[in-house]
Amino acid sequence: MSKLPMKTIATILFALFPLALHGAGLKPTSTTVGESFRNPVGYSLQDLSFSWQLPLVRNGTAQTAYRVVVASSADKLPDKADVWDSGKIDSPQSVKVDYKGPALRSRDRRYWMVKVWDEVGAEGAWSEVNHFEAGLMDNSEWKGQWISGDLPTGRKEYLFNRSSVPKGKKASYDFMKPAYLRKEFGASKEVTSARFYATAKGIYKASINGRQLDSRTQWVPGWTQHDIRLQTDTYDVTSLIQQGGNAIGVLVGDGWFAGQLHRKRRDNKKPWFLGQLEITYSDGTKEVISTDGTWQASTGPIVFGDIFDGEDYDANAEMPGWDKPGFNAREWTKPEVQDIDKAVALDPRRNQPVSEMQELTPASVKEIADGVFIFDMGQNMVGWPRLVDMPVEKGSVVKLRFAEVLRPDGTLYVDNYRAAISEDTYTPKEDGRITWAPTLTFHGFQYVEVSGLKKGEKPGVGNLKGVVLHNAMPMTGGFECSNEKINRLQSNIQWGQRGNFFSVPTDCPQRDERLGWTGDAQVFAPTSTFNMDVEGFFTKWLVDVNDLQDERGAYPNVAPFGVKNRGSGGWSDAGIIVPYEMYMAYGNTKIFEDHYDQMKKWIHFLRDHSSKNLIRMGFGFGDWLQPNSVSAQRSGKERGSDTPNALVGTAYHYRTTLMMEHMARVLGKEDDAKEFAALAQEIKVAFNRAFVGEAGRVDRNGKKTFTESQTAYLVPLSFGLLDEETAKLAAGHLVRKIKEDGSHLNTGFIGTPILTSVLARIGEVDLAYELLEKETYPSWLFTVNQGATTMWERWDAYSKEKGIHPARGNSLNHYAYGAIGKWLYASVAGLNYDERQPGYKNVIFAPIPGGTLTHASAWHQTPYGRASSAWKKSGDSFEWKVEIPANSTGTLVFPTRKLDSVKVDGDPVGAASMNLKSGNYTVTLKL
Ligand code: BGC
Repeated sequence: MSKLPMKTIATILFALFPLALHGAGLKPTSTTVGESFRNPVGYSLQDLSFSWQLPLVRNGTAQTAYRVVVASSADKLPDKADVWDSGKIDSPQSVKVDYKGPALRSRDRRYWMVKVWDEVGAEGAWSEVNHFEAGLMDNSEWKGQWISGDLPTGRKEYLFNRSSVPKGKKASYDFMKPAYLRKEFGASKEVTSARFYATAKGIYKASINGRQLDSRTQWVPGWTQHDIRLQTDTYDVTSLIQQGGNAIGVLVGDGWFAGQLHRKRRDNKKPWFLGQLEITYSDGTKEVISTDGTWQASTGPIVFGDIFDGEDYDANAEMPGWDKPGFNAREWTKPEVQDIDKAVALDPRRNQPVSEMQELTPASVKEIADGVFIFDMGQNMVGWPRLVDMPVEKGSVVKLRFAEVLRPDGTLYVDNYRAAISEDTYTPKEDGRITWAPTLTFHGFQYVEVSGLKKGEKPGVGNLKGVVLHNAMPMTGGFECSNEKINRLQSNIQWGQRGNFFSVPTDCPQRDERLGWTGDAQVFAPTSTFNMDVEGFFTKWLVDVNDLQDERGAYPNVAPFGVKNRGSGGWSDAGIIVPYEMYMAYGNTKIFEDHYDQMKKWIHFLRDHSSKNLIRMGFGFGDWLQPNSVSAQRSGKERGSDTPNALVGTAYHYRTTLMMEHMARVLGKEDDAKEFAALAQEIKVAFNRAFVGEAGRVDRNGKKTFTESQTAYLVPLSFGLLDEETAKLAAGHLVRKIKEDGSHLNTGFIGTPILTSVLARIGEVDLAYELLEKETYPSWLFTVNQGATTMWERWDAYSKEKGIHPARGNSLNHYAYGAIGKWLYASVAGLNYDERQPGYKNVIFAPIPGGTLTHASAWHQTPYGRASSAWKKSGDSFEWKVEIPANSTGTLVFPTRKLDSVKVDGDPVGAASMNLKSGNYTVTLKL
């Protein structure tokens, strides 16, 4: 027996004792509700479904049945589930199993468990007990009023040191100071539970008895289309309430609601807060303390706070103990009150809040002039500086300025912040050392200039930290390969995502823009799903997008905040593409169900209002920021797109109509599916008639020819707009065009994301890798060679040779060109979702080795658990390890024609691809 290999022993044991071996220990883990929320308090109930993962205990681990039980208290589980018992359901479904019990209401707290039966029918163990609790589901649940202070105005003066404005020119504007609000109350009896519900028109920070409700959470309630919807937060504050005197303290500032973001609209709005504390006592009685005229209002040490312009903090105005009971508030006034507007929906939060995610220590600090220090974070980042034990002296104001890049003389370059002042000040009340970070602003920066410290003191790298802020989404993926520069590119992509997933997907985090541009979001969304769990983040943002659809059906170009300009090709199409991507990455059909009618309206809008003979008209950005654009050179403009707007727009109409067809089928809407299929065919015919010329050349716009561009070929090839013959010819033209462009990419926001995938698909793998590994301008690795630590808006945002690009729109933290990230995961390492079984129910493992790479690997935390793909090659020998999560399956596509050489776990396969059950496998083959 001892001579038998382990594999054989295991097989014998399985045969002898199948149930005993299988059943033991199969216990669901990673239990979540809705869009991956773990034990949420204040849940929206919008997608009440249950998901779990199974441990991969052996190859083939899978589920054949499940049972979910839901109860009103934990002690009733699992046997006395009084709310809902699914019973044993024969089904492999372990992701988004819908709750089918009685309807739930605001505040309902429910407990749940799940167990499964494995692939041979053996019953597993119950999961841990989980819970979820509903938020306030309706405006009528809010009993109080909006409150704010009678806020004095201040005058912001600043030196406008932009190259566009004369050096040192003084400028100023009036602003309203942030409000401090407080309320004292007594709790006479023992508290069994307490919840604080809160929201703001603006952003708030709340504490009870001097303790912040959630110290990592910032910039809440987040950005929505404020005149339509506000998110609300729920906090379990049971442990913060004490018997006797208590106090609530709230700071409320402009956020995205008022301030400089709105300057062009001349709104003079002030921020407002709405809160409701609900206490349940041990004798069963309840007490509700809401915001109303009995609260107190004041200003305080934060005298100015603005998204773009920074924060001013005056320690002389500190009010020690203002958020604790017993504080002397004699000088505080009655707040201003406003009734709750029924037209603005108050909805429980659907994404994770912006939070402090990590702290960076600067790489260096240099004194560039007497008492002026520049801290280099070593990384372009988004968030705050935190001063730590920084030496200050009374009478000297500490000033913090920020930049993404330095001028050659070592001073900050701030022109690309445009009108965003982005400066913080701290006025000390005494000599000493301070630990402080701003609250009502955020910055995008690599460098922090600090001046005004105590004379003679020289701070070190330990005196400043970089606090990284973004929505609190877990990282769910990684990619690594043998080319270190590509690894830096992957890091830059992830940092671009960290910096711009800030309440909404933004174009950039530093200048006077920071908007939810739809085009940027749709090109980057697929990559973003590999890096982080973005399901809740995009689900929430898609509500913003849908909120801004106009009566005709046009989606906005920017959401929230996008009132003007709608319907642009490749931008507004995000309203269909992003939900589709959420379906692909998470198996989420709910977004489609929720917005289906609006999506359909969009497709019809394009058909009926925004096209002529199905050629999309109207405003568009074309292949935005295409480098070396001939049309820009001709017109003398700084930028231009050789690919016509109409071509991009029509192609996207086709692509999104096909997505609608797919989703209509998934949702069982067969008639709609047929309608979309027919419309797509018509668009295809119209596209070919309008844009495709002789012999597969895509260089016509109606009757006129236009300058050929890489993107004009990439788009129809990627979206499947050409018949087989034409596609072959067009592929040839694409390759020729790339060669004519010096074997460089020459693509903007639309062409770049699909460049390598199209080349690989038409058999030009070598060219795809040549472009990926290219180090001269324009290319991804050119930016890496210039020292980039994030993705840039332009291929030459900065170069060692020429310095910073002088354009006013020049962000060094723009994620759009990071859309190559999906190709790294899906094709270089070879780990992707399967469009026919989305959400990684089946994983496609199809690496395309090439270029100089000798190894590549990727992992991704799928809804079923961890999947990974790691290959290395030496000469023509290729070794590949694959991990398929439990209850999922995998399709392996072998990257070779020498099928005889392919072995999986030592067994010959002799086929080009193979379907495998969950588990770990080793593949060897000859390339
Ligand atoms: C943004 C882009 C955006 C574009 C629209 C710019 O100002 O930064 O990323 O997509 O406008 O073309």
